[in-house]
Amino acid sequence: MSGSSPELPIVVLDALMPTAQRLVVNRRGSTVWDVESHRGHYAVKLGHPIEATADWPAQPWTALAPAREGAVLHRLGLDDLAYGEWERGTWNFQPWHEGPDLYRLWEPCREKDSPVEPHTSVALGCVEALAELHTKGWAHGDVQPAHFIIGPERTHLIDLALARGGHVPEGYDLPFRGCLVHYEAPEIARSVLTTGEAEPTQEADVYGLGASLLISATGWRAMEYPDDAPRPVQREAVANGKRRPVRVPGPLGELIDAMLSHAPEDRPTIYEAGKALSRVLAAEDRLTEAPVRAH
Ligand SMILES: Nc1ncnc2c1ncn2[C@@H]1O[C@H](COP(=O)(O)OP(=O)(O)OP(=O)(O)O)[C@@H](O)[C@H]1O
Ligand SMILES: [Mg+2]
Repeated sequence: MSGSSPELPIVVLDALMPTAQRLVVNRRGSTVWDVESHRGHYAVKLGHPIEATADWPAQPWTALAPAREGAVLHRLGLDDLAYGEWERGTWNFQPWHEGPDLYRLWEPCREKDSPVEPHTSVALGCVEALAELHTKGWAHGDVQPAHFIIGPERTHLIDLALARGGHVPEGYDLPFRGCLVHYEAPEIARSVLTTGEAEPTQEADVYGLGASLLISATGWRAMEYPDDAPRPVQREAVANGKRRPVRVPGPLGELIDAMLSHAPEDRPTIYEAGKALSRVLAAEDRLTEAPVRAH
């Protein structure tokens, strides 16, 4: 496929008979389309192996990610999806969620001297999406701003390819080797550095959401390391907890700070985070709705 424009496999074309399709991402190991069909509106994901180059080792398991995600979504109770295999790996289709992701939505907050503040209701929507997964006994493993889609009705947490919490068919399972370092909890970074692998946990998800809210609201990473540092050096900084101060005003800033606690047991659970934000939101509503009385 290198160089040429990717195409949907026949098996997916047969299943969906697209009336319109748009390529969303096409990068190492993964391709995503936005597909409309008489059956509905879907995200189609295709996985293929990442070949070894001078800069990175081969990553054969990226080929399995869509089928693994399909199996996870199915276990979580979603029926409107399908997954299977194509020549170079696996694929899935799942409902398309309309809306910007958290990073894009909060872009105005990141502009210099911006008067725009991050909305509590948006943060709460992200917390609720993650809480829904945690309630079912799962951990996401790859929490990042691009994975929260802020829809008109609710926020969706996407990309469950690395989620842990229930049975996944052995043939589609893949190792967890950490996530994007900006959102990786210290204990995960430490484990990846020492063993090459880690175990996704709900506590690490809470850290990942804290780091996602921080970077989306301010543009700043939670931890301090040079942009161009090699990945192991970045992980070392994360594992050692070289924190940056959280510069988000008010109770949201306090919550983010707690979510980024070095020790997993010091972080709030996602339910505690939800309760804290609900209280803030209720107080904000009282302020805006309070009638002005002139005596
Ligand atoms: N169900 C969906 N609804 C809307 N957009 C989606 C959906 N699934 C994926 N996307 C879009 O495709 C992008 C890539 O999807 P996803 O993160 O699941 O794939 P990925 O290959 O695992 O990417 P990465 O390696 O960056 O995590 C998302 O950031 C989003 O823009
Ligand atoms: Mg992703």
